[in-house]
Amino acid sequence: MYYSQEVIDEVLRGSDIVDIVSSYVHLQKRGANYQGLCPFHNEKTPSFNVSPSRQIFKCFGCGVGGNALTFLMKYDNLSFQEALQQLADRAGVKLPEEDRSEQSKKRQEEREQLLAVNKEAATYYYRLLRSPRGKKGMEYLTGRNLSPQTMQKFGLGYADGRNNDLVRMLKEKGFSDEVILKAGVAAFDEKRGMHDKFWNRVIFPIQDTGSRVIGFGGRVMGDGKPKYLNSPETPVFDKSRNLYGLNMARRTKKPYFILCEGYMDVIAMHQAGFTEAVASLGTAFTQQQALLIRRYVKNVLLAYDSDGAGVQAALRNIKIIRGTGLNGRVIDLRPYKDPDEFIKALGSEEFEKRIEHAENGFFYEIRQLEAGYRMDDPAQRTDFSHEIARRLCEFTDEIERNNYLREMARKYFIEEESLKRAVASYGRAGAGTPEGLTAPPSRLERPARERGDRKEKKTPAAASDLRSQRLLLTWLVDDPGLFSQIREYFSPEDFEEGIYRQAASALWQRLEAGKDPEGSMTAASLIGIFETPEDQEEAASLFSERIEGDPNPVKTLTEIMTSVKRGTVSRLQKVNEKDDAVIRQMFEEKKKQQKLSGVTVHLSKPSGQ
Ligand code: CTP
Ligand code: MN
Repeated sequence: MYYSQEVIDEVLRGSDIVDIVSSYVHLQKRGANYQGLCPFHNEKTPSFNVSPSRQIFKCFGCGVGGNALTFLMKYDNLSFQEALQQLADRAGVKLPEEDRSEQSKKRQEEREQLLAVNKEAATYYYRLLRSPRGKKGMEYLTGRNLSPQTMQKFGLGYADGRNNDLVRMLKEKGFSDEVILKAGVAAFDEKRGMHDKFWNRVIFPIQDTGSRVIGFGGRVMGDGKPKYLNSPETPVFDKSRNLYGLNMARRTKKPYFILCEGYMDVIAMHQAGFTEAVASLGTAFTQQQALLIRRYVKNVLLAYDSDGAGVQAALRNIKIIRGTGLNGRVIDLRPYKDPDEFIKALGSEEFEKRIEHAENGFFYEIRQLEAGYRMDDPAQRTDFSHEIARRLCEFTDEIERNNYLREMARKYFIEEESLKRAVASYGRAGAGTPEGLTAPPSRLERPARERGDRKEKKTPAAASDLRSQRLLLTWLVDDPGLFSQIREYFSPEDFEEGIYRQAASALWQRLEAGKDPEGSMTAASLIGIFETPEDQEEAASLFSERIEGDPNPVKTLTEIMTSVKRGTVSRLQKVNEKDDAVIRQMFEEKKKQQKLSGVTVHLSKPSGQ
């Protein structure tokens, strides 16, 4: 982390999460907590909770959660540093420069170096395109109707046939081999050593919202393969959280963005005056990208290729778009393949008309669905109508659902009342959980080994064990007086490896230090030890698990503790090659488990506050 835990805590102490969230989300008091509509997913009934006593937020609908810092990071797509700075300014805390830990200083330096390499490389490609050596590239881009101004605006460049010039130039400027390789502009193999990655291609620099170059796409000038070569993901290039063209599109006055498939589409659109065009980065469109868009506009018009693959991608993305609360529509480009070709053939006025006639995303889905049925066959027609009913259940808002229902009934000649009844029956059967939302409560239950970024785990805990662990952690945070009563039975080792254990260790450290120095800041501050919003979100769930209106909390807590311990014992039993130490420990833990069932804890306040 960039700043020490003390500094982060100080900033958090000076902030009030209710205050901060309220400036973005309308909150209402419910008991000890505040509730509102979750800003991170589409919902009509509030499941977004803010706890003033724990200083954290948690959505029980989509699973997001964290402290005030996490909220700003997620809501405004800020980096950790940016969010901390903003919060510090608000709280009137001055951030010390020298307080960075060594590790985060290194990471920050690396990021700066990677950005510097990208910048140098972009300048190199840019100049080369405009030099005599760039003739071939310039001819290619001109042949694709791009004006010099457009090429300049997008910083287009060229990498020619001499495949070591960039590496040599970067080395001369003092960049290490390691940094050059990591930035993804060079590759290494036995035969050629370090060599330029992009070679004989026109170059599309990819910029973040601050217009810093974070990666490149390079296109062959003709029909070679692969058509595009892209920078790999690096610490500064996260393909799922950036969009091509967003640095310009964000300034649009229009209430929508146009989402295209390719770099060339975006460029052609901007040149034709549609500066609201963006595209994903050679990878599938993600929920994070939809949330990114939602910071600027509430509507997305899809301008995807009109071929089969384009339709499939549009259907997939319409769901993601709807899942994040954006309103999605689809532009019909037929008979042309993509926006680039459409503009070239018919120009911007015609495109403007297509924008006006863009089809409602749900209508589009149903129309694509219709193509799979023979409507002159009553049996297939019936199936089709039932499928419509099933999909209508995705709309959780009754008014909205009825509006669509009426329209579907009219459009496809289905009797409205029977469609309504079918929807009601599917609704009861639990169909229509909103799709497209990938941030899941279920992700929290997934064993650690499935998450790519964590170390392999031999015996992942069961979902119910994890829940008990969360309940216990939340309880300890809410009622620190509990600690002295249970510390002889538990240690951080009782918690799932990874985030659970890290959070537990930090909590133990605090509680062992005697009093709880931060008081109500404990949960918020413990979340602060994790760096990425994903980790913070999971950490937040560790301190947001409770049982509402429990008539017998003492008994419940005993059960929770027994269950956590049972998990520890069974984890030890599953260790394949048990040495003496493991066996001894297993018996120790078993003994504790037996003792626990007879323990009566004294609670200073009921959980659930
Ligand atoms: N893409 C890629 N690698 C490929 C092909 C495509 O990364 N081999 C990505 C690029 O981001 C590209 C997008 O997918 O912009 C869409 O592909 P396509 O429609 O083929 O590209 P266009 O941008 O339309 O390029 P062009 O018009 O030059 O063919
Ligand atoms: Mn194209």
